[in-house]
Amino acid sequence: MPLPSDFAQKYGPWALVTGGSAGIGLQFSHQLAAAGLNIAIAALGEEELIKAAGEIREKYGVETKYLLVDLTSEDGWRNVVESYDDIEVGLLVNNAGIETHGSLFRDPVEKHVNIIDLNCKALVALTHAFGRRMVDRKRGGIIFTSSLLSTPAPFFATYSASKSFVTSFGRAVREEFIRYNVQVTVSEPGIVESDMSKNIAKNMDFSKSGFSIQKPDDCTLSFQMFRGGGSKKSAAPEGVKTEFVFADGAKDDVQLSGDWNDWKAIQMFHEGAGTWSVVTPVPPGPHEFKFIVDGEWKHSERHPTIGIDETSLNNVRYVLPEPDLGSSEDTRSKSGHRPQRRDSRASSASVDSSASRRKKGTGFFSKK
Ligand SMILES: NC(=O)c1ccc[n+]([C@@H]2O[C@H](COP(=O)([O-])OP(=O)(O)OC[C@H]3O[C@@H](n4cnc5c(N)ncnc54)[C@H](OP(=O)(O)O)[C@@H]3O)[C@@H](O)[C@H]2O)c1
Repeated sequence: MPLPSDFAQKYGPWALVTGGSAGIGLQFSHQLAAAGLNIAIAALGEEELIKAAGEIREKYGVETKYLLVDLTSEDGWRNVVESYDDIEVGLLVNNAGIETHGSLFRDPVEKHVNIIDLNCKALVALTHAFGRRMVDRKRGGIIFTSSLLSTPAPFFATYSASKSFVTSFGRAVREEFIRYNVQVTVSEPGIVESDMSKNIAKNMDFSKSGFSIQKPDDCTLSFQMFRGGGSKKSAAPEGVKTEFVFADGAKDDVQLSGDWNDWKAIQMFHEGAGTWSVVTPVPPGPHEFKFIVDGEWKHSERHPTIGIDETSLNNVRYVLPEPDLGSSEDTRSKSGHRPQRRDSRASSASVDSSASRRKKGTGFFSKK
């Protein structure tokens, strides 16, 4: 499905895609170029960079730039920040990543440290630099390529820990940036055809994993976020815009249900690659919630839980009050910018009343 025609106008003229010359990143580069964005790619292999930039320029008639850079080093990410200082990066795709698998001791320690340098450190540095410019402009978007292995995965210990970082960082930043009209999405693909997965397949039989192998364009479905999917008005009470995510497996439908609105179901939106999300106002304080997944009440393994048995087990979350941006040390807020509120993407609907009743009053937090 093509992106909307005003996509480039909405975010800005350039997309910077790390690792945008191969695999999933190359797919991002093509899709963004098809939407009219100029493409800047930062990656390691010169041949692939030249090829990708040339093909994209020719096929879509957009401008391209590329930078041969090793993002595991500080020199590398600083080079990207400085080199692309003169273009308006409207979309940053934090995609470059490396992995190691097998016993922790199969590879030398440098390989593990490199994973953290690339998958985590460079990503923070680029988000800090380009995200700040987007926040100042009050437009832009950031896509993080995390992974389904963002929960502890034995034999992928360093890689899965790095992807936990990506998911956690990306989702936190998303909530911070929403108020500045900067959209952030975190994609958590499963197994995707690429050099990375081919390398893993040498030592691991994917057919036994229970996962089907995705094509790179399957993971770029996270663009649904940017397509404005689910921009319905919320009937939920006022509160702090809070994001909830479900990525534990669902066939057709996921709804959120929590104690802050008497367990009324809130429709979640499929971002692609098995991730469902919604941003909805929640009053500050401790809250219990659960998901209705294809009609069944479920808690998520990815959120903390409270309860004593399967029926009473709920997810829990402490929603912090909105920070006082006016008195923050952040220079932008002193310059008079008021945080912008976006329309909530949440919609409320009635759930099966017996299920709703079942959830009511099971709270372990005492509510006012
Ligand atoms: N494939 C999967 O099954 C899968 C599943 C979940 C998540 N992911 C994530 O998706 C992202 C893309 O992976 P992929 O499968 O498309 O892998 P890929 O085909 O191996 O592509 C990785 C990209 O990262 C770049 N890169 C690697 N090391 C770099 C460095 N030191 N400095 C700068 N760029 C560097 C590569 O550049 P060169 O080609 O120039 O070396 C390449 O463009 C990664 O973050 C990965 O963790 C992949």
